[in-house]
Amino acid sequence: MDGNGRWAHGKNLPRSEGHNQGTKTAKAIVEESRRLNIQYLTLYAFSRENWARPKEEVSFLFGLLTRFLKGELQTLVKHDIRLNILGDINDLPLTARKVIEHVCSKTKSNKSMTLNLALNYSGRFEIVRACRLILEQGLSADQIDEKKFSDYLYTADQPDPDLIIRTSGELRISNYLLYQSAYSEFYFTKTLWPDFTTGELHLALEDYASRQRRLGGVDPL
Ligand code: FPP
Repeated sequence: MDGNGRWAHGKNLPRSEGHNQGTKTAKAIVEESRRLNIQYLTLYAFSRENWARPKEEVSFLFGLLTRFLKGELQTLVKHDIRLNILGDINDLPLTARKVIEHVCSKTKSNKSMTLNLALNYSGRFEIVRACRLILEQGLSADQIDEKKFSDYLYTADQPDPDLIIRTSGELRISNYLLYQSAYSEFYFTKTLWPDFTTGELHLALEDYASRQRRLGGVDPL
C-alpha cells in the first residue's frame, strides 16, 4: 500500500492525511475482493523497517489501524472474513495488540476470505524465524523440504500469492513474501495507494488473467 506520503505531499497535506485516505482505499479493496470471491488478500501495512519512521508517524499509524479494525469488525463478521496477521505482534503498542487479538479471535472461524495484514513483517526475518523454529523443534535435515519449510512461515496452510500488486511506481519487492512469491505474477502501477480504485483492481486482475503461468515448465501447446 505504497504512496500515502507522496499523495499527501502532492496535495500539501500532512502525511497522516495520506494514511487516512489509504485506509479508505484498503476498506474498498477488501470489500471488492470479497465480492469477487478472492479467498486470500494480504495488505502490507507495516514492515519491520517502518519502525525507523518518526515516532509520531508510527504511533499515528497504529492508532489508525486500531480504529480501523474496531470499526470494521462487524463488516468482517457480516462478510465471513477472517483476519490473520503475518508478523510478530508482540512488539506492537499494547492497545493495538489487544484490538488485533480481539478481532482475530472473533473472526477466526470465518471461511469465505482470509484477510492477512502484514504487520511488523519482513520476508527475510520470516525465513530466519522459520529456521529458528525448525532448529528449536530438533528436526533433522532429511525432514525438511520446501513444503515442510513453508509450514514454518506465517502463511502456513495458505496458498502462495497468485498476484502481487505494488502501487506508487516503485519497481521492487521490498522484503515482501520473499519465499512465497517465487512464482507470483507482479502488477506494478504508478497510481499512489490512496488513488487506487476498485476499477484499477479489476484492471490488475484482467492483466493477470491474460498471462501464461508456466511455473517453470514449458509453454502449453
Ligand atoms: C506506505 O506509504 C504506507 C504505509 C507504510 C502505511 C500503510 C498503513 C495504513 C494505511 C494504516 C492502516 C492499515 C490498514 C490495513 C487499513 P508511504 O508512507 O511509504 O508513502 P510514501 O512512500 O509516498 O512516503
